[in-house]
Amino acid sequence: MTRILGIETSCDETAAAVLDDRVHVRSSVVASQIDLHSSFGGVVPEIAARRHVETIDEVISQALRQAGSTWDDLDAVAVTRGPGLIGSLLVGVCAAKAIAWQRDLPLLAINHLEGHVRSAFIEHPDIAFPAVALVVSGGHTSIYLCPEEGVYRCVARTRDDAAGEAFDKVAKLLGLGYPGGPIIDRLAQDADERAFAFPRAQMKDQSLDFSFSGLKTAVRREAQSEGLECTIGHGDESSPKLRNMVASFQKAVVDVLVDRVLRVCRRESVRTVVVTGGVACNGRLRRRFDETAAQEDLAVYFPSPPLTTDNAAMIAAAGFLHFERKRFASPSTPALATLPL
Ligand code: KG4
Ligand code: ZN
Repeated sequence: MTRILGIETSCDETAAAVLDDRVHVRSSVVASQIDLHSSFGGVVPEIAARRHVETIDEVISQALRQAGSTWDDLDAVAVTRGPGLIGSLLVGVCAAKAIAWQRDLPLLAINHLEGHVRSAFIEHPDIAFPAVALVVSGGHTSIYLCPEEGVYRCVARTRDDAAGEAFDKVAKLLGLGYPGGPIIDRLAQDADERAFAFPRAQMKDQSLDFSFSGLKTAVRREAQSEGLECTIGHGDESSPKLRNMVASFQKAVVDVLVDRVLRVCRRESVRTVVVTGGVACNGRLRRRFDETAAQEDLAVYFPSPPLTTDNAAMIAAAGFLHFERKRFASPSTPALATLPL
């Protein structure tokens, strides 16, 4: 048996997890900082880093306790080295290096985006390759072609905002709170998603890249003309016009995400799709992918919600690929705010 401790601190969750043999999640502890940042309508990097420092020891201890594991039972430590907020990343990377050095364990330096892709394989270890992976979160919106396990070719990325960032910004401008994704997901239920005609951005150069900033601006303009634009936290959740507006916005995002994934699948003759990252919790997105899977004869996999948003089990899961291939990181491996997969 191989046991890996995973550590994740790239943004505003302090997380640690213990994973056995790729798929057995012995523990997954996530300390969310949402309460700390919600009044600012987004993550404040300095506050996030300070809270990681305060919580990391306890989160790691809890993960070991819940797993019934001692330090001696560990075979390696996997940590997110990037991309993310540099102050936040440094906390996890320093903790992992200290543990690796003190316990004489291999250090596995993981790209956060590889972690998101691998999160789907914890509950679905038999996903077939080649596969197309959509990573759609607050910081990232990219599509990867994965011809085989551990290989990721980026075929589309956002040119401006990430999809989750668009959800968060639209919720903020309507005074609905943070994070915006789950709020909009809830308010859009049973609303008229055809009430507003929002744009679906298409690149002029035939690329499959995404752009969500124009959509956000279109929502802002519409909100202004409907008298719905709002400063922090005073949006009227019961307003049918507001609910129709967020439902129409959500549909525009979902349409674009599904369209691009389908185009990559057709172009590359791939029949397997993996959808991960916080926005993959979205009910509308999941339903649309399920419908599309049936129509297009695709197999579409989502991790369950706790593994979809930021967590450390996915970092440990990616760690297994590195461990098996002996891709060990040196003690001088830096944390990197920008790190393409
Ligand atoms: O993966 P994640 O936890 O962190 C990043 O790596 O960014 O994703 C967080 C993002 C936030 O933008 C949040 O609004 C969005 O995921 N999100 C959702 C939903 N739940 C979380 N977006 C749409 N619908 C949801 N149900
Ligand atoms: Zn993430």
